[in-house]
Amino acid sequence: MAYPKTKKIMNEIVADLTQAHMVVHQHHWYMLGRGFLKLHPYLDDVMDELAEQQDGVAERLIEINGSPISTYEEVLEETNVPDQVGSWDLSMEERFQLIVNAYKQLRDDYERGIKISEDEGDNSTNDLLIAYHTAVEKRIWMMSAELGKRPGEGE
Ligand SMILES: [Fe+2]
Repeated sequence: MAYPKTKKIMNEIVADLTQAHMVVHQHHWYMLGRGFLKLHPYLDDVMDELAEQQDGVAERLIEINGSPISTYEEVLEETNVPDQVGSWDLSMEERFQLIVNAYKQLRDDYERGIKISEDEGDNSTNDLLIAYHTAVEKRIWMMSAELGKRPGEGE
């Protein structure tokens, strides 16, 4: 039981989940305007989901004798989720597009992780990553629908 490539991609996923959580938190704090009362608490649910997946991936990584990254320095080194300094000047649509973009990075991460864990024969990690991938795709669909986008539009 070594799974070296699986461990590597899992740490990249931990980094992207951590960064995505911060991005969502930023928009939860900075949003202004129509829909605030509905969308502000909606982002609490999104953050709960990201935190649950972050913990789940990190703990599975420990179960296969890996070491999850656990500092912001490591997160910044590994993450592929972009961020920007908080601004009051974004529209709700712009905010949700940035969150959808972060989720699309997570979707791509999970897709790579699913292939790699399958190749290395780590079935339990494979199963976990498939479940999280499914949840991420559902979230992308729902947030895209909120933005008035059809499935696959803007891919
Ligand atoms: Fe809050």
